[in-house]
Amino acid sequence: QRQRLVVTRTLPQASQARIDKGFDGIDIIQWKEDRAIPRSEFLKMAKGADGILCLLTDKIDAEVLDAAGSQLKVVSTMSVGYDHVNVPDLESRNIALGITPGVLTEATADTTVLLVLAAARRLREGADAVIQGKWGTWSPTWLLGSQLTDKTVGIVGLGRIGAAVARRLKAFGVQRFLYQGTRRKEETEKEIGGNIEFVQMEQLLRESDVICVCCALNDKTKNMFDYKAFSQMKDTVVFVNTARGGIVDQDGLISALKEGKLGSVGLDVTVPEPLPQDSELLSFPNCLVLPHIGSGTLETRTAMSEIAIENVLSGMRGERLPHAHNA
Ligand code: GLV
Ligand code: GLV
Repeated sequence: QRQRLVVTRTLPQASQARIDKGFDGIDIIQWKEDRAIPRSEFLKMAKGADGILCLLTDKIDAEVLDAAGSQLKVVSTMSVGYDHVNVPDLESRNIALGITPGVLTEATADTTVLLVLAAARRLREGADAVIQGKWGTWSPTWLLGSQLTDKTVGIVGLGRIGAAVARRLKAFGVQRFLYQGTRRKEETEKEIGGNIEFVQMEQLLRESDVICVCCALNDKTKNMFDYKAFSQMKDTVVFVNTARGGIVDQDGLISALKEGKLGSVGLDVTVPEPLPQDSELLSFPNCLVLPHIGSGTLETRTAMSEIAIENVLSGMRGERLPHAHNA
């Protein structure tokens, strides 16, 4: 009997070519517009699906799973984060969940370093000044930023991405790393080497010159960076979030920016996404916002979509997923 695969967006070219060619015994239904599938469309399209290949822009919950029906075997998201998926709803129905770990580590760590340097060196203000004709003369005192040499960097979430960020920043002369997370990671500490310490959050906030958020969004990390946390940071801090917008209480961040409590901020993720153009967050020259492109290289996005395809096909065959969320 033929199976049905639902794909919620057009994929990077190499993977899309595989979808267009098709798979034996599988009917493919795909949302091909380059915008998130509207919820009502998704609920209709999901009906009868044996496998769903989705993105982080698609909320996966009981309503979707019920709309699909009891034959649904697997949900495969083209992302490493799965905070958009209600995991208990899947588990109670014995539906497998595939994610794309590993392949986006380097690209996302690159984006994190990009934002650290851009924020620390006031890239937005400098680039804006050139465009607006405000580049008067070379000046000994104009647009001075800060550098990483001999500094302390705090990493929240020393997973694959956090560790890759630390490895990169070491090359910039960072003197000391502090980190926070669910547990101490001695192997990762050894691999990074040098001065690296698992500390309480309070100490990380107080002592870090740069803070990078690299953890998953979950009940424990939601709104973890609130006004109080920002108030505990150095007033010169460089704060960068490339994980999920929901880890930051954005109103608290805006208040802290207004009161000059933060040196500079770099965000690749916000609430909501896309961030409305009139968001107050965009009014601060020392806050640079990117449109969630952490993993946005052709190489990485292709690797992600290939894994997402392998996951969904394995699940539809009733096999173990190559990359399950709980592997
Ligand atoms: C991107 O944010 C991802 O989770 O893969
Ligand atoms: C994500 O891949 C992480 O573990 O940091």
